[in-house]
Amino acid sequence: MMNYPSNTTVSPLVQLTDCVKVYRTGQVHLKALKGVDLTVHRGEMTAIMGPSGSGKSTLMHIVGLLDEMDEGQYILNGREVQSLTDNEQAQARNAEIGFVFQSFNLLQSANLRDNVALPLIYAGVPVAERRKRAEAMLERVGLLPWAEHRPGEISGGQKQRVAIARAMINRPSLLLADEPTGNLDSKSGREIMELFVELNKMGTTVILITHDQEIATYTRRILMIVDGLVVSDSDGVNANVGTDLSAEGTF
Ligand SMILES: Nc1ncnc2c1ncn2[C@@H]1O[C@H](COP(=O)(O)OP(=O)(O)O)[C@@H](O)[C@H]1O
Ligand SMILES: [Mg+2]
Repeated sequence: MMNYPSNTTVSPLVQLTDCVKVYRTGQVHLKALKGVDLTVHRGEMTAIMGPSGSGKSTLMHIVGLLDEMDEGQYILNGREVQSLTDNEQAQARNAEIGFVFQSFNLLQSANLRDNVALPLIYAGVPVAERRKRAEAMLERVGLLPWAEHRPGEISGGQKQRVAIARAMINRPSLLLADEPTGNLDSKSGREIMELFVELNKMGTTVILITHDQEIATYTRRILMIVDGLVVSDSDGVNANVGTDLSAEGTF
């Protein structure tokens, strides 16, 4: 038996309660999230699904500290987020969270190494160390031979691997991906999902948005959002992680 103190409780990484988000444009008020609860524990891999316009990206922006909610409570890694200053929120975002987007968001004028190293500039890491760490990440996603190339010279799947390497360079505890396979063919999409599974197995908590039922089978948990509300949370139902999906005829 391990000897843990009996009063130890591990707090969730993400604990969002009754989250309401309203977009105000002119006279129009649009309630994009109508009271969402989301708890994600360390080590989880969760897919968020739901129709277009249902509030998935809005939720991810709030979880990722890219946007503020109007009502509710958010505790990230044991810290109440709303009481943090903007600067503290930015620090928490840089330290805890990596983002991957459907459109890759790479700098076209920079080579792959510099793209991956970019977050380290903001973190104040010296240039030699930046280079070393960026190359190690590129190696991990299988793109070290392409370090000197620019995003325009590689495929969509490769671009997304670079974006993932960039998202992981600060060793975030939480990796957020908004339709990361949305611009990829199905083979590249599967390869990207295998990379997420691998990162998740190594300890990174992953939340990804997808439209694709097949992509969602890679995750243990699927959260369904419709019209600003969580309508189902299939925790445990899709426990395909660690199994060879292709051998089961899933694809
Ligand atoms: N910046 C914004 N300003 C105004 N309305 C927005 C903004 N972003 C999203 N919305 C609206 O909020 C709703 C939820 O959008 P979003 O979270 O992007 O949905 P999803 O990612 O599920 O497609 C939609 O009706 C969308 O039009
Ligand atoms: Mg979206």
